[in-house]
Amino acid sequence: MENQLLLQVENLDSGYGFLQVLWNVSLSVAKGEYVCLVGPNGAGKSTFLKSVAGLVSPMAGRIDFSGNSISRLPGDKICRMGISYISEELNLFAGMTVQENLAMGAFTINDKRKIVENQDFVFELFPALKERRRQLAGTMSGGERKMLAIGRGLMSTPSLLLVDEPSLGLAPQTTAAVFRALDTLKQKEVTILLVEQNVTKTLQVTERGYVLEKGKIVLAGASTDLIQNEHVRKAYLGI
Ligand SMILES: Nc1ncnc2c1ncn2[C@@H]1O[C@H](COP(=O)(O)OP(=O)(O)OP(=O)(O)O)[C@@H](O)[C@H]1O
Ligand SMILES: [Mg+2]
Repeated sequence: MENQLLLQVENLDSGYGFLQVLWNVSLSVAKGEYVCLVGPNGAGKSTFLKSVAGLVSPMAGRIDFSGNSISRLPGDKICRMGISYISEELNLFAGMTVQENLAMGAFTINDKRKIVENQDFVFELFPALKERRRQLAGTMSGGERKMLAIGRGLMSTPSLLLVDEPSLGLAPQTTAAVFRALDTLKQKEVTILLVEQNVTKTLQVTERGYVLEKGKIVLAGASTDLIQNEHVRKAYLGI
């Protein structure tokens, strides 16, 4: 883990206006790693991802990406550097087609061939999107929109993917498709930081994890250890 840290967050305090949500959070992700951040509703998981993505301004601490400080950069700059944040809210353009939404995700790329290549890859990951490429995003089902949001997040060829609750509200089959897609990305050496409600599944697929409660990291370690941890088993796995 020590070698080639892609994301290194140290002593991060963050929140909204006077409301502090994150307290002294330190978390790192090495190049090629698949890491998760789990915790109860309201713990601050999305706030953490948004702070890294430049959508929430940190109050204190450091956020380094590939050795460069990004904690004061705006979201579009951070995206151009190779961080893609796939939010819970999805933020799709409802009046645009699937294909147009994907094209918007490639705003950082000038090379037309690369854009086509990325789109082909997204269609390969989610064949359902290919069938619906001309459909308006606003008329898609919840699961389809989720896939589209993930697909759009991939269009910028990110080196770090921040994924917020990709399986929330999805039927088992669609959830499986989403996890399969993340797995394929992992094979392609995309580095992934995953926030998920489905703690069992998440700890099975990731390499390392952090547990965030009330804005503080309370546990961290190998996912195989966390799955055995008594607190994790009681609080998250219902065992
Ligand atoms: N824009 C905002 N303005 C003010 N408070 C906010 C804002 N967004 C989130 N919060 C508050 O920050 C705290 C952490 O929220 P956050 O969305 O980060 O939690 P979370 O761990 O992602 O929860 P969930 O599992 O429900 O998605 C909550 O108390 C929430 O009400
Ligand atoms: Mg959240």
